Parts: sequence; structure tokens; C-alpha cells
Amino acid sequence: MMMRERKVRKATTNDINSIHEIEKNSIKSAWSFEQLKTAFLQENYHFCVCDDGEVLGYIGVKITFDECEIMNIAVKESERGKGIGGELIKALVEFCQQNKVSRILLEVRESNNTAITFYKRHEFHEIFKRKKYYSDGEDAVIMEQKLVSLAQE
Ligand SMILES: CC(C)(COP(=O)(O)OP(=O)(O)OC[C@H]1O[C@@H](n2cnc3c(N)ncnc32)[C@H](O)[C@@H]1OP(=O)(O)O)[C@@H](O)C(=O)NCCC(=O)NCCS
Repeated sequence: MMMRERKVRKATTNDINSIHEIEKNSIKSAWSFEQLKTAFLQENYHFCVCDDGEVLGYIGVKITFDECEIMNIAVKESERGKGIGGELIKALVEFCQQNKVSRILLEVRESNNTAITFYKRHEFHEIFKRKKYYSDGEDAVIMEQKLVSLAQE
């Protein structure tokens, strides 16, 4: 079988359906199609997908001044553990370094050990816990990665 080339690229509105499909199968408090569409229209939100002809995973972030917050990240269940999440984070870090972002923040459910381990391996550190952050009462772990800017002055 021919291997299809996998790449990370900027998402377009044509990708929202595929993103939503993965989101609702991966995230407990998943964003609706409408929420994703609204975010896509905002200038400070950026979405990337990893695809090999079909969308395998995505990352969505919000940039506020020199801070980036990861709003959504997920990989299609059958495609996890193949490095796709890592490629998405790597692309984000490069994007942030070129755009004078000094830190990346995210929140993750305390019970989501897979994601917490994944983020730690990608140089995120736990900075605090937000008690009962989620609507079902679960605590959120807030994680941060500080960046050195590579932007040209
Ligand atoms: C967190 C998530 C995005 C990581 O994506 P991924 O493509 O599986 O990540 P990677 O393959 O780059 O890394 C996963 C690691 O777990 C290991 N792993 C092995 N099998 C795995 C599997 N079936 N599922 C997940 N991870 C697996 C991989 O070997 C890898 O470790 P390594 O970097 O030491 O090799 C993915 O697990 C996911 O979509 N989770 C559900 C959504 C979610 O929780 N998002 C975060 C909300 S804050």
C-alpha cells in the first residue's frame, strides 16, 4: 500500500466538520460545530490540522498579546500514539516563537493522565490547579511552557 504523506497545515473552514467529528469523540466537554465556527472567524484564534488526505488531528489556540492558550487538541482515536500530537505541538511552538509569544498555557482535566504525560514530555510544567473548573466538578490542571522568541526584530 502507498504511504500517504502526513503534514501539519493551517486549517480552513472546510476542515470544521472533520475537526468537530474528532472533537466530539475525544473531549468530554466538546465544543459544538457552532462554537468551532465562531472561533474560526476570530482573528486571534488559529487552527492547524495534521492530515494525510484526511484530517487525523488538530490544534486550536487563542493568542492574547504575547500569550498563547491551547483551546483544543485531539487526535482521531485510531491514530493516537503515532506522533501526530507531538507534530501539532512542535508546529505550535515554532509558530509561537516566530510570533513573539512568550508563553503557552493550557488547562487539562486532572484525570486525563494521557494528556498530562504527553504535555510534560513536550516541556509543559504544572503551575497550579483550578478547583472545580469543569461543569461536572472536576479540577483543572494549568500547565505552562515558557518560550524564547526567535522573531526577527
Ligand atoms: C493527548 C493527545 C492529543 C496526544 O496525541 P497523540 O497523537 O497520541 O500523541 P503522540 O503520539 O505524539 O504521543 C503519545 C505518546 O503516548 C504513547 N502511546 C502509545 N500508544 C498510545 C495510544 N494508543 N494512545 C495514546 N498514546 C499512546 C506514544 O508512544 C507517545 O509516547 P512517546 O512520545 O514517548 O513516543 C491524544 O491522546 C488525544 O487526542 N487525546 C484525547 C483528547 C485529549 O485528551 N486532548 C487534551 C485535552 S486538554
